[in-house]
Amino acid sequence: MHLFDRMKADGHENVLFCSDPRSGYRGIIAMHSTVLGPAVGGTRVWRYQSDEDALVDALRLSRGMTYKCAMAGVPFGGGKAVIMLDGSAFDRETLFRAHGRFVERLGGRYITAEDVGSSAADMELIAMETKYVAGRAQGGGDPSPYTARGVFRAVQAGAQYRWGTDSLEGKRVAVQGLGNVGYSLAQQLTKVGARLIVSDIDPARVARAERELGAIGSSINTIHAADVDIFAPCALGGVLNDRTVPEIRAAVIAGAANNQLLEDRHGDALAERGIVYAPDYVVNAGGVLSGGVDVLGWSAAERDRRIDAIYDTVLEVFRKADAAKIPTYVAADRVAEERIERAARVG
Ligand SMILES: NC(=O)c1ccc[n+]([C@@H]2O[C@H](COP(=O)([O-])OP(=O)(O)OC[C@H]3O[C@@H](n4cnc5c(N)ncnc54)[C@H](O)[C@@H]3O)[C@@H](O)[C@H]2O)c1
Repeated sequence: MHLFDRMKADGHENVLFCSDPRSGYRGIIAMHSTVLGPAVGGTRVWRYQSDEDALVDALRLSRGMTYKCAMAGVPFGGGKAVIMLDGSAFDRETLFRAHGRFVERLGGRYITAEDVGSSAADMELIAMETKYVAGRAQGGGDPSPYTARGVFRAVQAGAQYRWGTDSLEGKRVAVQGLGNVGYSLAQQLTKVGARLIVSDIDPARVARAERELGAIGSSINTIHAADVDIFAPCALGGVLNDRTVPEIRAAVIAGAANNQLLEDRHGDALAERGIVYAPDYVVNAGGVLSGGVDVLGWSAAERDRRIDAIYDTVLEVFRKADAAKIPTYVAADRVAEERIERAARVG
């Protein structure tokens, strides 16, 4: 990869490669933009196939955070860290404290939090080395319930736009992935009378949803094609692709997973099919907003008000897309870019 060309093309400000030979820690901290404020984004802990895969992930995810923060209306830019595992045993405290020391050296230009493979308890370990960490067990805690609340509001916005009502009573919703966010979303949907079809690679999670929520379990290979009104991808990225898009029967897509569109053209294909796609980074901003308690001193009421307002932002994107006759993912990017450019001019 031509790193500087890639950074220039995507507008990345800074990429830090970190190594602590004593602990075996190897990490990358990518800061896409600090135009709106310090770059925020979680620390992903993963076993990558190659250094390049890790770098691409950090670059892609940090850029996504810039757009997510701009759309959520918070004074943050986009960043992301990845810690690269090599399959050997490691000590969590040594690893996360080494990471924390690198975060500290950035002097607040990057604020970390949890992500796939890290937890609120790991954030406590990072906090032993730096104050630039959110999502701590003793602070805002696990962002997942807040993310789930925001996804629920986005689903309501989709229903409002498509059927002219927020009510989800009797609506059939396919929830893909019953993890921290997906299960909480499924619980909220059940409470308001939605009927659920669910999938997870872990059969115990599906069994729990069947037992507790009256959901119907589906195959992981076909859930996207279920005969439902709404599809909520809450597992992995790239689920909207050449294979799945033609098979989708839902009228609305709104879910938590990051980078749901495998490529932009899949967003175009959804628009051509008349499927209303709520852009992922608008929908799943509840986790970032929950960090406002730790980092910006918000009250719980302020946090909840802003998470509920994801409903309005999603509708704004849909209306903009309609007015300009463009796919929703393009409309969301435009709103975010306008906000960043405005801030850059003022700053
Ligand atoms: N947790 C948050 O606050 C947050 C915030 C923003 C975005 N997200 C994104 O939302 C998604 C879910 O996050 P989470 O915290 O619930 O993660 P999680 O790891 O708790 O849950 C993911 C679930 O998906 C299941 N899964 C994996 N592959 C699957 C497949 N092919 N089909 C069906 N199920 C599958 C897993 O078994 C697991 O139950 C992720 O993409 C994450 O990046 C999460």
